[in-house]
Amino acid sequence: MCGLKKDQIYQIAIDGPAGAGKSTIAKLLASKLAFTYIDTGAMYRAITYKILKQCIPLNDVHAMIALAKQTEITIENEHIFLDQEDVTDLIRSEKVTKGVSTVASVKEIREEMVQFQKCISQHSHVVMDGRDIGTVVLTEADLKVFLTASVEERARRRFEELREQQPDVQLKAIEEQIKQRDYVDENREHDPLTPANDAVHIDSTSLSIHEVVENITQLFCEKIKKESVEKLVDGR
Ligand code: DC
Repeated sequence: MCGLKKDQIYQIAIDGPAGAGKSTIAKLLASKLAFTYIDTGAMYRAITYKILKQCIPLNDVHAMIALAKQTEITIENEHIFLDQEDVTDLIRSEKVTKGVSTVASVKEIREEMVQFQKCISQHSHVVMDGRDIGTVVLTEADLKVFLTASVEERARRRFEELREQQPDVQLKAIEEQIKQRDYVDENREHDPLTPANDAVHIDSTSLSIHEVVENITQLFCEKIKKESVEKLVDGR
């Protein structure tokens, strides 16, 4: 697709707040381009799951860091393994969702995760989503996207997702939780959620998933073509 070079590794970074549709879109995009999809939020969730399982209080930063350093996280076929246990579904619990922003605000835990994320993106073409991908993890990505949607729309999407398993779920409560998570992610000291200077902003509030995937595919192809022409012109 769009003249990818055989000897080059391509990287697409997708950042944005909770519920903007990043993971659905990144997964479809990766499948369309035959790239590997890497969900970095799942890594922060996995370590949060282990911290909670071991009853470590979320204000015991030293214990959380020590635990993170002894933890092995691997990803295979979009499944996430924590010390070899498949935790793909377990990390989506309410408890993990509530605690993960606190865990993700610890500098040393972020450093561990970022190192791992950089490592896995060196060997295959990736679409990686998260909060700091364009600004910290893949600073040289071929394309950086900052995907947003209104708080109301993000809450509505999450509500639709949860309604089947949790019939008593409240839209207002989800909206509050999303606002709270945005606040922590945007205001934390280390690698806060912020668009990279060279990111393309896409507001998905009134776009379908398909439209966003198409939009990003086109942007990527244009970028690749432009880079190839620039290399030819420069004789690089
Ligand atoms: O995308 P998500 O909701 O699964 O992410 C879970 C949490 O992890 C979210 O509160 C922010 C944090 N996170 C982060 O700080 N950096 C990333 N690259 C990915 C997620």
